[in-house]
Amino acid sequence: MCGIVAYLGDKHAYPILVEGLHRLEYRGYDSAGIVLLDDEIHLVKKKGKVRDLEDAAGGTPKRSTIGIGHTRWATHGEPNDVNAHPHLSGNGRLALVHNGIIENYAILKKALERLGHTFVSETDTEVFVHLIEEYQTRDGISIEEAVLQALNRVIGAYAIVVVDKEDPDKLVAARKQSPLVVGVGDDEFLVASDASPIVKYTNKVVYLNDHELAIITRDGNLNIRDIANNHVEPRVEEIDLKIEELEKEGYDFFMHKEIHQQPQTIMDCMRGRLNVQEGWIKLGGLEEYKKQILQANRMIIAGCGTSWHAGLIAEYLFEDLARLPVEVEYASELRYRNPVIREGDVVLAISQSGETADTLAALKHVKEKGATIYGIVNVVGSSIARITHAGSYIHAGPEIGVASTKAFTGQVTLLSLMALMIGYERGTIPLTRYEELISELGQIPEKVREVLAYEEQVKYIASEIKDTANALYLGRGYNFPVALEGALKLKEISYIHAEGYPAAEMKHGPIALIDENMPVIVIATNQSAYDKILSNVQEVKARKAKVIAITTKGDEQLKKYADYIVEIPETMEPFTPLLSVIPLQLLSYYIAVMRGCNVDQPRNLAKSVTVE
Ligand code: AGP
Ligand code: GLU
Repeated sequence: MCGIVAYLGDKHAYPILVEGLHRLEYRGYDSAGIVLLDDEIHLVKKKGKVRDLEDAAGGTPKRSTIGIGHTRWATHGEPNDVNAHPHLSGNGRLALVHNGIIENYAILKKALERLGHTFVSETDTEVFVHLIEEYQTRDGISIEEAVLQALNRVIGAYAIVVVDKEDPDKLVAARKQSPLVVGVGDDEFLVASDASPIVKYTNKVVYLNDHELAIITRDGNLNIRDIANNHVEPRVEEIDLKIEELEKEGYDFFMHKEIHQQPQTIMDCMRGRLNVQEGWIKLGGLEEYKKQILQANRMIIAGCGTSWHAGLIAEYLFEDLARLPVEVEYASELRYRNPVIREGDVVLAISQSGETADTLAALKHVKEKGATIYGIVNVVGSSIARITHAGSYIHAGPEIGVASTKAFTGQVTLLSLMALMIGYERGTIPLTRYEELISELGQIPEKVREVLAYEEQVKYIASEIKDTANALYLGRGYNFPVALEGALKLKEISYIHAEGYPAAEMKHGPIALIDENMPVIVIATNQSAYDKILSNVQEVKARKAKVIAITTKGDEQLKKYADYIVEIPETMEPFTPLLSVIPLQLLSYYIAVMRGCNVDQPRNLAKSVTVE
């Protein structure tokens, strides 16, 4: 949630900050603000998007070479100009941007009010900057010393950057549970919530760890301390992120680009890991802990949203191919339960961002209980990637549209590879089937390309159902989680109420909702429960619903009952989700576009949910 960017160097800070905020806008976009520092603090902040901020900043002096910026996803206080960040200290000397939540802000606020502080916003963040001010003025100490003291008082999650008018050649940044990256350029530093505002200037970065404070000075010094004020040696890493990956490259929306990237991203996920000719699968990140995973008694999978849906597909994959018992948990529930973790349990977290607070907390929780934790993550260097014992990146490249698409297929691809590898090693897949399966997996990118060729047809279906108030998605087996995912996509970006259901469960309740106004999207590919799902379609049709069926190429039967058909190529059952999800992504995309919604930045949502 929320994007932070800061600059200190020899260039004008304003354009760098604004460009950085545009790149980070996917993280939060209800208001935005900047502070530029010279002899004065120049503050501009505005409800709305970064472009509203730019309009408001029309007259801002652009010569400062130090500044901080923020794009907000409100947790405390409605989105408005006053609650937008940066927040200033009472004496107007300090400015701070914050990502996260200060849980004890109410107590701190009362204590500070008793000391004479007055607050102008409703945010938890403003309390933070007043607290720093209090220590600084009371003890006559430097900004970094005051920040350190304040960090020892606040409870909650934060990534912050602070500047001090009286010390204008310094940025002070700190993190706990919210990401922060320092870019180390020639004669300049950037600090940001992720590397996207940084890559244009440098590929050298330092990822701050929890409870670390960075003091960055104009003379080229990056000094990192922990919360007990011990020196920490900065570990400079090189990142491989190209600027084109952060652009729309001709598409109207990132989501559209990301849907179309899938043949490539699925291939990238398999590259070097699957060799069909030689018949092997290797997951390098898993090697060190392979024994634990092969001998696991049980696998617990944790994730949120779309990543949780990928976890549900993994349940089918691991049970079917590797005969490994699996439990799939919402990370937000797992973190507050008292789960029974036994020897031989492996916990697998799935997360695009690698920063989701609930998933991170669930992992820490089970790690303390002795579980081996494994991560399937997209964002390189993210928190989940760093706290897990072992893991694999899906290599989907930056996913910027809030609605997850290519990360989902990347996750499912990686999980398929993992299930096949474990199944092979555990001897639960007969050799001939294993060979067929890996050869089929190798074909998937091309088959995804074939599905994408049906785009116009999906667009037409979208135009037919775009005005509906509700929609029902049905699927069975491997395609039940795909039904959930299709419904989530529609809800998220078009604000149509949609539900995903196991097709057979429909008769236990949701069937009551069906009438001629209800579009029912059925994933009815040629697989084990095909006849059953055909009956479900007839049940739906008998109640006059509009049926949109995702079928296997050449299926003649369904044509009789469905109002609209989208065909996908034949594949082996475990891989159908990788194909059947594509038309559902396109369907929600086009419905949202036709309804005039901002597809990449849907209301109330944010790409990376780093708060509870
Ligand atoms: C997906 O379209 C959603 N925006 C959301 O459900 C997302 O999948 C969830 O917040 C988990 O995010 P993560 O994969 O980054 O952990
Ligand atoms: N809690 C802060 C606020 O509501 C920061 C939220 C964010 O991460 O954007 O302003």
